[in-house]
Amino acid sequence: MPLSCIIYDSTNAPPGTSGLHIEILTTMKLTLTLLLFFASALAVAQQPLRIPDTLSGPEYELVLREGATEFFPGIRTRTMGVNGDVLGPTLLLNKYDDVSLRVINQLSDTTTLHWHGLHVAARNDGGPHSTIAPGATWNPRFTVLDWASTYWYHPHPHHRTNEHVSLGISGLIIVRDSAEARLQLPRRYGVDDFPLVVQSRDFDGSGQIAMHTAHDSTLMVNATIKPYLDVPAQIVRFRLLNGSSERTYLFGLSDNRPFHQIASDGGLLSTPVRMTRLMLSPGERAEILVDFSNQRGQNVLLMNFGSEIPSGIYGAAQPGMGPGQTIPGYTANPLNGRNRSVLEFRIGDANAEAITSLPTSLVPHAPWPASSADTTRTFTFMSSIMGPRAIEGPFMINDVHFDPDIINEYIPFENVEVWELRNMTPIAHPFHIHDVQFCILSINGVSPPPGLAGRKDVVLVPPGNGVVRFITKFETHHDNTFPYMYHCHLLTHEDHGMMGQFIVSSPPVSTFREIPTVRDRAVLREIHPNPASDVVTLRYELPSAGHARLQVFDAMGRLVATLVNSEQQSGVHQTRFTAAGLPPGMYTCVLRTTDGSAAMRTFILLR
Ligand code: C2O
Ligand code: CU
Ligand code: CU
Repeated sequence: MPLSCIIYDSTNAPPGTSGLHIEILTTMKLTLTLLLFFASALAVAQQPLRIPDTLSGPEYELVLREGATEFFPGIRTRTMGVNGDVLGPTLLLNKYDDVSLRVINQLSDTTTLHWHGLHVAARNDGGPHSTIAPGATWNPRFTVLDWASTYWYHPHPHHRTNEHVSLGISGLIIVRDSAEARLQLPRRYGVDDFPLVVQSRDFDGSGQIAMHTAHDSTLMVNATIKPYLDVPAQIVRFRLLNGSSERTYLFGLSDNRPFHQIASDGGLLSTPVRMTRLMLSPGERAEILVDFSNQRGQNVLLMNFGSEIPSGIYGAAQPGMGPGQTIPGYTANPLNGRNRSVLEFRIGDANAEAITSLPTSLVPHAPWPASSADTTRTFTFMSSIMGPRAIEGPFMINDVHFDPDIINEYIPFENVEVWELRNMTPIAHPFHIHDVQFCILSINGVSPPPGLAGRKDVVLVPPGNGVVRFITKFETHHDNTFPYMYHCHLLTHEDHGMMGQFIVSSPPVSTFREIPTVRDRAVLREIHPNPASDVVTLRYELPSAGHARLQVFDAMGRLVATLVNSEQQSGVHQTRFTAAGLPPGMYTCVLRTTDGSAAMRTFILLR
């Protein structure tokens, strides 16, 4: 009983049990299973890093199937994989090749397969609308138009992306092109160029993968727990993917030696960037070069420096901005806020044709000037729950959850656009857009560091009113009926609706339903004056009679006032709020109605 109390307190009980109410007999059985499981988990010896096979085109056959993987000796864990039991082959693509992919779904569940980062037509993109029923085959064909870099594929079914990814379906895509081929870079797969898919998982008491918990305390690389890799004593290239559902990593080497980042999500950088730390949020990729020259016989660890991750990022000691904001079970997870080894490098002999020096420059990249933008769009992230639990979501973008029947944005074909991402929640969200690569203009008003200045398709938006601006062009593909997605790449957030869709149109437009106009929804019309110093007047409009709640929250998501919480008539209403006792800063007013609609506006309090 004491042991089970330690392992299962009321906040981190496994799904389906209610902590304190487990009967003694069940508890004992559970304890026994756990003891057996942890005993075998502890016994996991270091294992050679699994290196996924490669597939080359122009035709690819990908069979999605269920299987079992022995992560822990003697324990069969139910997994899903592509052409195998877990993960999938690395696809080698060449720019301008015409490729045809046959995706055969042998799972017992409907799914989709998305080419994350590739610039393909919406119908070939594998988003939630491109469902593949069990037994069915999906056959996208496209011309590869991407820059040499590391991309990936993963399922994208609405509500079940996290499940299918967590159970094991993901793989890398390596695109090669002539600009990359001209450079002196390591590019022999599995020799001096290695894929590293880094993921954290929650294994439950019986060694099965659990979803929707904050107990993702097992690290793995290429689905290998406690991995080591024999590397040659020369410059080696690693293609890192953060394939985790929620966790952000801060990578570095155990001896703090510098390494060089050469590529971000969608292409090589203009020059190698020297660094000792590299942060990757879910969905992001980076290619790095590590110099092991003349170090034969030594070992170096790839580390996750969790203790250095700033608060407000999943993976830090605090997932929210303040100590009161946490996720059930989060603090008990030993990966959070701690430094951990991810992979051990064992340095062996150098091999023939070793790369021994760094290129001084890579591939030039000229982003669109911000002044060339045709349109600016704003995307505001907020939680549907306010107060200390705001950190758990579900989260909305521009006041709405994902609805497969609603198109959130129509984008004129060939538009150059600035997207401004505003994070009104206390936790960072990695924002991802399909179809295009973008260039970050600023993060909280500051130009991006050189490692984030290249081509990107995911960007981590800082918490607590964090603002990211990026610029991109919606070129090559348009389709008036088939949408692309944008979403948070924390898969739990995405599955719970932190996603929207856009159509790149050249007129006439759409068979999809447009987003309801403001006339159908509750609207916060005005906050006056803004900035304010004392009394604030709020005007709001309700489309129909019903219960309405109007509340004010501070920048940390803490409730500071409830102004309205009652049955209201339809029409325009006005209320006043005395803010004199509050500290200066940014405040958010949220209006909610029983039909589930929400409206939001911020104001600034000055003194
Ligand atoms: Cu990596 Cu919409 O996904
Ligand atoms: Cu994607
Ligand atoms: Cu999110």
